[in-house]
Amino acid sequence: MDHFLQFVIASIFLFSINEVVDGLACNWGLQASHRLQPDIVVKLMKDNGFNKVKLFEADPDAMEALAKSGIQVMVGIPNDMLGPIASSVSVAERWVDKNVSYYLSNRGVDIKYVAVGNEPFLKTYNNKFTQITFPALQNIQAALIKAGLGRDVKATVPLNADVYQSDSGKPSDGNFRPDIHTLMVSIVKFLHDNGAPLTINIYPFLSLYADPHFPADFAFFDGGAAPVVDGSISYTNVFEANYDTLISALEKNGFPSVPVIIGEIGWPTDGNINANPQLARRFNQGLISRINSGRGTPRRPTLPDIYMFSLLDEDTKSIDPGNFERHWGVFYFDGAIKYQLDLGGGRNLTAAKGVRYLARQWCVMAPDANVADPRLPQSMSNACTYADCTSLGYGSSCGQLDARGNASYAFNVYYQTMNQQKGSCERFDKLSVITRIDPSNRDGSCRYEIMIDTGKHEPAKKPRTSAAGKITTAFSAAVLLLKLLLWG
Ligand SMILES: *[C@@H]1O[C@H](CO)[C@@H](O)[C@H](O)[C@H]1NC(C)=O
Ligand SMILES: *[C@@H]1O[C@H](CO)[C@@H](O)[C@H](O)[C@H]1NC(C)=O
Ligand SMILES: *[C@@H]1O[C@H](CO)[C@@H](O)[C@H](O)[C@H]1NC(C)=O
Repeated sequence: MDHFLQFVIASIFLFSINEVVDGLACNWGLQASHRLQPDIVVKLMKDNGFNKVKLFEADPDAMEALAKSGIQVMVGIPNDMLGPIASSVSVAERWVDKNVSYYLSNRGVDIKYVAVGNEPFLKTYNNKFTQITFPALQNIQAALIKAGLGRDVKATVPLNADVYQSDSGKPSDGNFRPDIHTLMVSIVKFLHDNGAPLTINIYPFLSLYADPHFPADFAFFDGGAAPVVDGSISYTNVFEANYDTLISALEKNGFPSVPVIIGEIGWPTDGNINANPQLARRFNQGLISRINSGRGTPRRPTLPDIYMFSLLDEDTKSIDPGNFERHWGVFYFDGAIKYQLDLGGGRNLTAAKGVRYLARQWCVMAPDANVADPRLPQSMSNACTYADCTSLGYGSSCGQLDARGNASYAFNVYYQTMNQQKGSCERFDKLSVITRIDPSNRDGSCRYEIMIDTGKHEPAKKPRTSAAGKITTAFSAAVLLLKLLLWG
């Protein structure tokens, strides 16, 4: 065989190795009324080639499930803990001791990063966390070093891409936001000195959501958009342009080589006219193919680690940013597949296995109830106060329902959220009944959910809720009870 042919064959071989997924990374959020059992989630990640995960807090059940899983973990510190950690070294040391050292050494959780806060400099926070984030980062870093973990575990701060900007729109003009410029330079220098990465969340969907004139094709990876020309470089998607704006900002401020992690990126499937499975598939397929290609951007030839947002839907997230906020999952809340993805290496998505559901029954509007019944709007509104009705709005998956379908949707989601509890379908002034016929539409685009049976999931083990946890739980239960009484 001549050398050239050998070379070609070797290249094809190397190329195909490169094509096989080296591993994907995702975010695992827990703000759901019916959480999927943690060991099922871990299995789901492994089945789909996710070998890195980011958690928003050191949830004990999630951490235990990740023990000896082979999945690398970035564990987060919620923003409400930044204050105490910033003002006390010993609070930081206790956090590291309990939430890093313990899981790493005693449980075999492969913790690689601590994420200090979550997008603390978002403009919508009105500087609430601006002064405390850096001191909290410094205290956690010092605590990691004191615990002997300075080498193995790195502290970072996940920031929204709104910490940098380009006034001209060209990536090469990128710099940090003027109001936090000095702070950003200090943080980046600190990360650099400690060999830690900068973590940035980038959301092309939000670019489109915020600006109706945003060129939609530019949000995706498949080209087709008029390029943004920046000197000799043409950008055809917002991810590259946005990421290189950050790289320019780093270069301009003297840190050309500080490593970067993309902490969140993704596309929601419901709750907005641009949030649907088709567009989410287009975006995430482009993203995964890009990750598998390993190809970086014009300013950074190697692609950073990219954590997809998110693994699962979360039906109790705040919808202040928009109704789409509860629908970022690649999977539904129960690990069911929303749309198919080619993961590379001939692999497709695999749904969660072993999920146990409540009975196959729904709460719907009674056939003899009238849509003009004056009590209907209030009943629906009550149901939607306690359950997630974000699929009902304009442009959403159940946005085409008639008034009867609407009411049924609301009654059902309430009934399921209340675990089909006795009496929970009877709350609606005799406007509702239980049925065993699935009201979901035939093509499955509008789902009348059945929730996971969380009762059957409770593993037989000692309760480990702390006193503080119990008080909060009891308090929330009391508040809910009070609300229900006031409504009833
Ligand atoms: C560990 O993290 C959990 C989850 O965020 C938190 O509730 C707990 O207070 C932390 N432990 C310490 C000692 O800070
Ligand atoms: C992956 O999914 C696509 C689209 O649903 C399907 O056409 C294809 O046969 C699947 N491939 C495998 C390997 O399951
Ligand atoms: C159904 O409910 C949604 C959300 O509450 C509302 O926007 C829509 O107008 C309703 N449709 C009908 C036909 O009542």
